[in-house]
Amino acid sequence: MMAASLEMVAVVAMAENRVIGDGSGLIWHLPADLKRVKALTMGCPLIMGRRTWDSIGRALPGRASVVLTRDSSWAAEGALRAGNLDEALALSRDWIDATNEARDEVILFGGGEIYAAGLALCNRVEATIVGLSPDGGPDAAFFPPLDDADWDRERLEEGAADGDVPAYRYERFTRKVPVTV
Ligand SMILES: NC(=O)c1ccc[n+]([C@@H]2O[C@H](COP(=O)([O-])OP(=O)(O)OC[C@H]3O[C@@H](n4cnc5c(N)ncnc54)[C@H](OP(=O)(O)O)[C@@H]3O)[C@@H](O)[C@H]2O)c1
Repeated sequence: MMAASLEMVAVVAMAENRVIGDGSGLIWHLPADLKRVKALTMGCPLIMGRRTWDSIGRALPGRASVVLTRDSSWAAEGALRAGNLDEALALSRDWIDATNEARDEVILFGGGEIYAAGLALCNRVEATIVGLSPDGGPDAAFFPPLDDADWDRERLEEGAADGDVPAYRYERFTRKVPVTV
């Protein structure tokens, strides 16, 4: 399959204050969201930063892990190294073309630096908004602000707080003027 045009979709879980993690991991446990992320990303290349790769610690099955790092000697089993966003997109395209079960979608998978670098190329954001406003500490990572002037926003589904699991809702943001990658 030739991926002529690709759609880039950011998939993120962020708190009400846009915190996404403390720099080395997530700061909530939301089992429903892990399932949703799997469904949204299966069959797609995931473009992620090296710190996010480190926090996951392995390649996720059924997806390509395209890892951005400025370290040209970096390598890890199951990861495709990219030195910049263009290279990450080229590797993603190659993987989609070479993979039967692939979908024509590239996932911007985080963390904070990678969302900031790639959001301008995304037409959609699939967000889980977690009903917390945590202080993520000195290394906190954030999702960039989504301006209503640029994005249409749809509320999809909500989940109530349950014990240690915070309340959450799924929101889809669609860019008003689509970009092509
Ligand atoms: N809640 C969510 O949905 C979600 C999703 C993903 C991650 N996270 C969280 O986000 C945090 C990590 O985010 P972060 O911002 O600290 O790190 P990150 O974005 O995951 O990775 C940053 C690293 O990516 C590389 N990099 C960044 N920009 C680059 C570019 N333009 N070209 C080449 N390489 C580039 C650099 O690697 P080198 O230093 O190796 O050069 C940089 O140190 C963790 O807490 C993680 O759990 C949360």
